[in-house]
Amino acid sequence: MSRADADPLLFRQLLSRFATGVTVLTTRDASGGPVGMTASSLAAVSLAPPLVSVCVDVSADMHRALSASGDFVINVLAHGQADLSRRFAQLPAEERFTGIGWRETPGGMVVLDGVLAHIECERYADFPLGDHTLFVGRVTGGANEAGEPLLYFRGEYGGFSRP
Ligand SMILES: Cc1cc2nc3c(=O)[nH]c(=O)nc-3n(C[C@H](O)[C@H](O)[C@H](O)COP(=O)(O)O)c2cc1C
Repeated sequence: MSRADADPLLFRQLLSRFATGVTVLTTRDASGGPVGMTASSLAAVSLAPPLVSVCVDVSADMHRALSASGDFVINVLAHGQADLSRRFAQLPAEERFTGIGWRETPGGMVVLDGVLAHIECERYADFPLGDHTLFVGRVTGGANEAGEPLLYFRGEYGGFSRP
């Protein structure tokens, strides 16, 4: 057994066995434009107050935007939204919102069309950890829709199946 800290591939393989949902984080940049990034690092943190966390690479555009912004949205992707996940992971930042549906909440937050849920957060705390920052958000609102989730496992997209 090799050590994951000496073997980045092993580290990635170990983590890839943990199936996750897929989200797109959204916020606004300094000039008010929408910013988004695919993220699977969502975790529940606390019930009272209601806290969640996401971990963002320090080199990501989203890191700069989140560090400057007071609030953000976690858009939980539905089963048919793998293209949205790829878009928000791969396209240049300035092209990510071109040609897709999104809306603004009354509070000015950015919500993508067709998501399974959106979770509205105000930034509560952040912790630099290695090459990522753990952003903790206090959940201030959101909405759920009926549907099935998009899942990510061993580098592939899939769906939820009942045992
Ligand atoms: C399924 C999936 C999950 C991802 N999860 C994260 C994550 O939790 N944190 C992160 O920093 N990057 C994550 N990424 C990578 C970012 O989406 C990708 O690096 C993105 O291009 C960064 O964009 P930006 O520099 O414009 O913010 C994920 C990518 C995929 C495809």
